Amino acid sequence: MGAGKTSVGRELAERLGRPFVDLDDAVEERAGATVADLFARGEAEFRSLEERTALPLLSAVGPCVYAFGGGTVLAETVRSLLPHRAVTVLLDVSVEDAWARVGGSARPLAQDETTFRRLYAERRRLYEQVADVRAHDAESAILALGGVHVEPGSLQRLGELVPGDGAVEIAADARVAGIYGMDVQLALGGRSRGIHELPPGEAAKSVESLQALWHALRLERSGTLLALGGGCTTDVAGFAAATFMRGIDWVAVPTTLVGQVDAAIGGKTAVDLPEAKNLVGSFHWPVRTVVDSAVLETLPEEELRNGRAEVVKTGLLAGEPLWELPLPEQVRRCAAFKTAVCLRDPHDRGDRAQLNLGHTFAHALEVAAGFELPHGRAVALGLLAALRLSGLDTTPVEEQLRPRPVQVDRDVAWAAMSRDKKVVDGRARLVLLEAPGKPRIGVELPPDEVRAALDELIAG
Ligand SMILES: NC(=O)c1ccc[n+]([C@@H]2O[C@H](COP(=O)([O-])OP(=O)(O)OC[C@H]3O[C@@H](n4cnc5c(N)ncnc54)[C@H](O)[C@@H]3O)[C@@H](O)[C@H]2O)c1
Repeated sequence: MGAGKTSVGRELAERLGRPFVDLDDAVEERAGATVADLFARGEAEFRSLEERTALPLLSAVGPCVYAFGGGTVLAETVRSLLPHRAVTVLLDVSVEDAWARVGGSARPLAQDETTFRRLYAERRRLYEQVADVRAHDAESAILALGGVHVEPGSLQRLGELVPGDGAVEIAADARVAGIYGMDVQLALGGRSRGIHELPPGEAAKSVESLQALWHALRLERSGTLLALGGGCTTDVAGFAAATFMRGIDWVAVPTTLVGQVDAAIGGKTAVDLPEAKNLVGSFHWPVRTVVDSAVLETLPEEELRNGRAEVVKTGLLAGEPLWELPLPEQVRRCAAFKTAVCLRDPHDRGDRAQLNLGHTFAHALEVAAGFELPHGRAVALGLLAALRLSGLDTTPVEEQLRPRPVQVDRDVAWAAMSRDKKVVDGRARLVLLEAPGKPRIGVELPPDEVRAALDELIAG
């Protein structure tokens, strides 16, 4: 009681794109009476009705978010079904906070503080028994459901945070291994079986580098590959984990801002072919993603800038100026946003396309620049074009990212845009915004209009 399960449950359902059912409402509907009236007839009768309503919900086909009442898990039948049919989130609240919220309200079991405290202590044990994850709000519930642990300093806690107790091998490039390799190995203790070094940057995502990693791995199927680094490291190591012995567990430990707010979340893994970037890959969700914003202290400014473009993109999609928050909170909120979108659409068949906001333009400019253009600068320009075509204020992008037009060949950029996989029958399908927080995917505009927007991003 008072943990916020109805409000958090409703928000969670909305953000995960699932139907929401509040068990109390379902009980009231079934009985044709209010919870208070049912209680007045005796708690035993209410509990029996609650149990008879909860059990079919747990057997229903298709994912839903249920808010279960504080007493629902008193029923042994419910407790034994939960682990098979649900991921159970314990909304953590102190007894003081819970009492402050509901004490003396109309709720039948919140009439006097002594009884309330006794119930809290009695039920706590059962809650701990059934909980798969703990959370205190919708954001932390989403992160927990996605296996994403966000906590400054968590690198030192990898020993507890890497699931299981089997061997762990680490993949990292030389720079990241030099700065954090020792800390990570110390944190893993006896489970650590050493570090595999990857080439720096995009070269890590070559087939040769992937093959070298496959050959170097000594893990058994019960082992875990830990990817420590930026998006290049997590992309290739994640793909190595997806394919080695037909798939082993992996843990992502992103150390760039791009990785923490984007690349290490959502299970997309890939390598590049000469024909195109990310042409071969798989969906292989890491068993855990550990996000420690403290490691961003050693990240060079140019890499931070790349990440800021993704933060601004996320803020525009979420409809909140997330870029104004302190960095650790920016990271947490952006990571939660991406996790929710990817849980909603894990295989990129619908809603996830919104994450491409600005990226069709960015990609065309990168191709025209022979990939010499920093990704963040390309995304900043792409966001500018997307906002202009949406008829929205461009101030957040101008102020936060200061995009400068690039000197590339206009025709080459336009040709690259036309070849983009998001172009169907010569018409680009763009992600635009109806308003901040309201993305529209698959928007088709007249080619002249799109070309003019692209041209505006090009200098000279
Ligand atoms: N899988 C996805 O969903 C997804 C999403 C976005 C981007 N990506 C991919 O991510 C890649 C780009 O990732 P990136 O921008 O993180 O670049 P990156 O992985 O190349 O890392 C950038 C550089 O920063 C250094 N570095 C990393 N962490 C550091 C730290 N804490 N301190 C000091 N130096 C550090 C690395 O050594 C590297 O040289 C691209 O290949 C892109 O395709 C994937």
